[in-house]
Amino acid sequence: MFYRCVRPWLFQLDAEQAHERALSWVERAARNDILRETCAALWQVRDARLAQELFCVRFPNPVGLAAGFDKNGVGVGLWPALGFGFVEIGTVTPRPQPGNEPPRLFRLPDERALINRMGFNNDGALRVAARVPPPPHGIPIGVNLGKQKTTPLENAADDYLTGLKVFDGRADFFVINVSSPNTPGLRQLQQADQLDALLGRIRAAAPAVPLLLKVAPDLTTEQLSDIVALVRQHRLNGIVATNTTIQHSRAQEGGLSGAPLRDRATECVRQLYRLSGGAIPIIGVGGIFRATDAWEKICAGASLVEVYTGLVYEGPGLAAAINRGLLRQLEAGGFTHLREAVGCRA
Ligand SMILES: Cc1cc2nc3c(=O)[nH]c(=O)nc-3n(C[C@H](O)[C@H](O)[C@H](O)COP(=O)(O)O)c2cc1C
Repeated sequence: MFYRCVRPWLFQLDAEQAHERALSWVERAARNDILRETCAALWQVRDARLAQELFCVRFPNPVGLAAGFDKNGVGVGLWPALGFGFVEIGTVTPRPQPGNEPPRLFRLPDERALINRMGFNNDGALRVAARVPPPPHGIPIGVNLGKQKTTPLENAADDYLTGLKVFDGRADFFVINVSSPNTPGLRQLQQADQLDALLGRIRAAAPAVPLLLKVAPDLTTEQLSDIVALVRQHRLNGIVATNTTIQHSRAQEGGLSGAPLRDRATECVRQLYRLSGGAIPIIGVGGIFRATDAWEKICAGASLVEVYTGLVYEGPGLAAAINRGLLRQLEAGGFTHLREAVGCRA
């Protein structure tokens, strides 16, 4: 209701300006006890049927904030109060970088979609890490790591290793991002030979931390199959599927997210689940606007889900609405716990 009044005003602003405005509210609310507690009273959903432990991390519910929304970790104090079960901050690169020239974020309201070509604008690992309190955190905090635009592809591993080092002891898990379309060449790191070398170096340097890999929705079954094999070989703990798609014919250049991505992302989740025999935890992301969208991802094989574009269109009550809807889905399907539904229609 509240967001229905605020959204027309926000949508009059340029999309990136609106995002900055929303984040500055989040940042202020994170520091205000009364606002935080009010949000928590409205939106926190606590129910044992939604809680899971995956790769030794406890998730109070399966709905997370996707990478890119809070690139710099300014809202880590507020996301739990909005009902999220975890958050992925970043993408963070070793040093601060400005990203691409604006305008670089566009709304497609008729399609409930966004196009972005942000290019990893962020404050750099040191400044972002300083905003992340030491564990234990209210909800798990994942850090999405990327490479600096100017780092040659053959040295990309060094950038991920720097990220791991700077956030050592601060993050509950890490996501190795090799799938953003807006850093030239980055997605080539998804090719089997390059990925093998990259994951080998990263795992050797960080043998014990939970590491996930974030993949693009534009991969063939064969490529997904190679990825599953490498994830297993290098003992990664999970896969985030998916990033934005570049297979679209919209006027703006960049990655497409939101409703048009939904089915493609769900199909990737399903394929990854099948290819791994359900043995690798999957975070399903792409086009989730309501509980039924999240339920589809879970039934296809996702243990957790994330939202970005849905939050822009639906507002701050989205995580709570999804969690409540998931509880209804569990009851309707006769499930006693969310984990029983994971992959039930894969
Ligand atoms: C403006 C914008 C910026 C994004 N930045 C990042 C990023 O820095 N790193 C990343 O891994 N994904 C990034 N993403 C991708 C999202 O995390 C997510 O994978 C994608 O948008 C699909 O989910 P959605 O349909 O719920 O938005 C970004 C998406 C948008 C719309």
